[in-house]
Amino acid sequence: MKPSLDLAGPADAPTPVAATAGLTSHILEDTLVIPYNDADALDRVLQRGDVAAFIVEPAMENIGICLPDPGYLASVREITRNHGTMLIFDEVKTGITAGWSGATGHFGVLPDLVCLAKSIGGGLPLGAFGGSNEVMDGITSGRVLHLGTYNGNPLVMAAAKAVLAEVCTPEATAATIARNRRFLDACDDVIVRAGLPAHTVQLGAKGAVTYSTTPVRNYRDYKATDFDLAFANWIWGINRGILLPPGLDEQWLVSVMHGDDDIAHATEVFASFVDALVG
Ligand SMILES: Cc1ncc(COP(=O)(O)O)c(C=O)c1O
Repeated sequence: MKPSLDLAGPADAPTPVAATAGLTSHILEDTLVIPYNDADALDRVLQRGDVAAFIVEPAMENIGICLPDPGYLASVREITRNHGTMLIFDEVKTGITAGWSGATGHFGVLPDLVCLAKSIGGGLPLGAFGGSNEVMDGITSGRVLHLGTYNGNPLVMAAAKAVLAEVCTPEATAATIARNRRFLDACDDVIVRAGLPAHTVQLGAKGAVTYSTTPVRNYRDYKATDFDLAFANWIWGINRGILLPPGLDEQWLVSVMHGDDDIAHATEVFASFVDALVG
């Protein structure tokens, strides 16, 4: 995860790098890293014929927001199917936030398995996964063990039901996404007026200001963005009531609890930051 570029290897064939102590060398040997938005690289690696699964965020959301190129996910689906490799979408961050049916529904590409967490629990600690009958039958038949102290925890399941059926209804989710769009439009106006070397990116209810003039298509593009400006933007907001996550690599989420006043305040704070920057 997010290695320094001197360890990351070549762009078209990245080197697996341990993100933490406690991993054996075999885990690294069993892990192949493929650059995002590069369907040819995926095809090349899956040619080996022994790759069990390709796990990918449909849109990468730990580097601001990195969207799939048009057609990329459809190619990924086709390539993985051709090679008999399971396709897993990590929708831990995009689930319900990219739209009520997540990034899977938003981009219209169906993986074999999808992982969900975070927003679908409405603040309670929930992770979930699901997939095709063929894949899930591995568990129901007992061939694959899926055991855990908190599996199916009743309180958390009730929260998920309330989130999906009552709070973040399709209508409420669409209204939230529209509110986010208005916020992004306002940020775009500020950026264009100031001639700032930055652009905004939206995926559903999430958004980001990325400090580069060209879109981020992969990790290396992201590493080339201006982190000093991103930090200045973040700390300016923190001091004015806009509490974005501290990692700079995150994005904002407009929740169903945010109203137009919140958007007006966030816009004002961003505009004041840009004024101070160019003034
Ligand atoms: C994209 C992505 N996938 C997976 C995870 C891990 O999810 P969990 O903590 O539910 O295992 C995270 C971070 O928490 C994440 O950002």
